[in-house]
Amino acid sequence: MPHRPDRPTATAPRDPDAVRHAAATVLDPADADAVAALAAHSAGTLATVLTHASVRRFTADPVPDDVLAALEAALVRGPTSSALHSYTHVVVRDAERRRRLATLAGDQRWIAEAPLLVVGCADLRRARTIAHAQGYRYTAHDLRMLVSATADLTIGLQNASLVAQSLGYGTVLLGGVLNGALEIASELGLPERIVPLVGLSVGRPADDRWPAPRPRLPLPLLVHHEQWSLTADEEQALLAAHDAETRAQGTYEGRRIPWAAMGRGGTDPVAVGDYGVLEHVGRKQGRATWAPQGAKVDVDLPALGLKVHGTGDVDPT
Ligand SMILES: Cc1cc2nc3c(=O)[nH]c(=O)nc-3n(C[C@H](O)[C@H](O)[C@H](O)COP(=O)(O)O)c2cc1C
Repeated sequence: MPHRPDRPTATAPRDPDAVRHAAATVLDPADADAVAALAAHSAGTLATVLTHASVRRFTADPVPDDVLAALEAALVRGPTSSALHSYTHVVVRDAERRRRLATLAGDQRWIAEAPLLVVGCADLRRARTIAHAQGYRYTAHDLRMLVSATADLTIGLQNASLVAQSLGYGTVLLGGVLNGALEIASELGLPERIVPLVGLSVGRPADDRWPAPRPRLPLPLLVHHEQWSLTADEEQALLAAHDAETRAQGTYEGRRIPWAAMGRGGTDPVAVGDYGVLEHVGRKQGRATWAPQGAKVDVDLPALGLKVHGTGDVDPT
């Protein structure tokens, strides 16, 4: 059923007092006032969600304190699995530290360029410490906890990203952080069992125009109703049609994964006009360079104190 503005339904309160009250549940009074004042200028949620596009070129203009306060509120104001808050975010403004982190997260230039970085970390330490202090053994399952923690921290980062975008800032999420988890944990001085997973760069877009929305796979591939509703042939046909579109539009021009990365030798057999979404996804999944990164996460998680198989404490107390 379409949205009916004339029908009374419960909506999130938008009056200044209610907004200030919500901000004040996580911010000190001065920051809550500043954030409530900013809320009056932010664009509507739907427009912000729909116009999302990652930004990877930033000006050096610092992110003002009131905007940072709004982002911090957004990082923690979302839902949290079992009310456990199994995340910790680290805000990095220092340029030298951002430069080092840019290298550790896979040489991503925009991490150094954007004036603000948030490193979203899965925190499997805090709840276990509390359990121990309460006199209980930790019998939870770290892999299961890691999944919930990943959802928690990603919700926070995405909320912060939407708030930033609604205020005219550009953002890009950074899954490359996980590839340097061990080294990034050391750079950030993190205690054991806190794992850097996903980052968010924030800053003013360097380009005059907001990036156009980038293509998505066709909706029937991504959203089903009630049950899985595609035959293999229908799925293939939708993928093929989308592939043809991306080839015709040159979607992957300049973003091609080089043949050398595939570890096959010889020259690239795929012509420029034949490189579409299918070739790109295939190469992303099949490139030889994934292997060491896969192995690294296998090493990094236990090195950071996580028990990736089975339940309970790594070192039972
Ligand atoms: C979990 C996650 C991790 C991502 N990691 C990176 C990253 O490390 N570097 C990067 O430049 N973009 C990263 N992105 C952004 C995606 O590349 C981007 O969302 C995608 O290409 C679609 O483009 P759009 O966001 O402009 O629509 C990530 C996005 C998500 C959701």
